[in-house]
Amino acid sequence: MFISPTNWEETLLPYNQAVDELVVKFSSLAAGFRKLDRPSPIESVSGRVKRVSSILDKANRKSVATSEITEKIEDIAGIRIICRFIDDISVVIRMIKDRGGIDLEVIKERDYITSMKPSGYRSFHLIVRYPVITAFGFARVLCEIQIRTMAMNFWATIEHSLRYKYNGKIPEQLASRLISSSEAAAKLDDEMNAIHDEIMEAQIVYQSKTALVDEILDNIQRLYVSARVDELEDLNERFFALYEGGDFEKLADFNRSLRAMRDVYRI
Ligand code: GTP
Ligand code: MG
Repeated sequence: MFISPTNWEETLLPYNQAVDELVVKFSSLAAGFRKLDRPSPIESVSGRVKRVSSILDKANRKSVATSEITEKIEDIAGIRIICRFIDDISVVIRMIKDRGGIDLEVIKERDYITSMKPSGYRSFHLIVRYPVITAFGFARVLCEIQIRTMAMNFWATIEHSLRYKYNGKIPEQLASRLISSSEAAAKLDDEMNAIHDEIMEAQIVYQSKTALVDEILDNIQRLYVSARVDELEDLNERFFALYEGGDFEKLADFNRSLRAMRDVYRI
């Protein structure tokens, strides 16, 4: 697979192809959810191949020999998956692990969410091995998949540009402000997640209430053929009163009594 460390174009070809393919694969997953009107755990996907100068810098920093670069530098190919909610991250991790053996294989995972890095960085990283068939043959390349929320991404983007500006040495005061803003971002993630859970619950209650009302109206309709008119008027009035009252349990009780009446009338 590894041709020659000096022929970068050829060396990086499978990495470029892997990034292109993986971006398509994960974006297609998101599109699939949207097509069926389901909320997607994936908000957006991006990818990049590390620049040769950054690969050489990192190899130098980590004392990696040129011949070992493709095995020891795990993020030459990088994919970033952004989620809206923190709970989506575990869904995405599961989706990736479930692909095991089909295409990619998870080699390592690093959870900087449960334990954030000293800088304040939060993200979940998976190192995977991904098979590609290029114009010049088969290769299995390493790829780093970063999974993070929009808030984590906001923080990491700002911090990264500051790190760049200060040449990797962020002044102490600024560094401590970055840590507290990372904590604020974590709090925002927790709040959004809690709100999301509540909205989802409210949606489920709303859906089951709609189904219950449909069933009540259907039961009254069926009783219409057999029950007496005064009885029916009474049922309709009781239904409207309960509906306006908005008590789900009382409506459910009422529906049970309608079912019992249908049993009596054998309809
Ligand atoms: P490098 O950090 O690139 O030397 O890689 P590593 O082998 O030490 O792995 P690590 O998991 O620490 O970092 C991998 C990648 O995560 C980096 O290339 C960055 O994209 C991201 N990352 C890690 N730490 C930070 C951080 O403190 N701030 C930001 N903005 N990104 C980080
Ligand atoms: Mg690092």
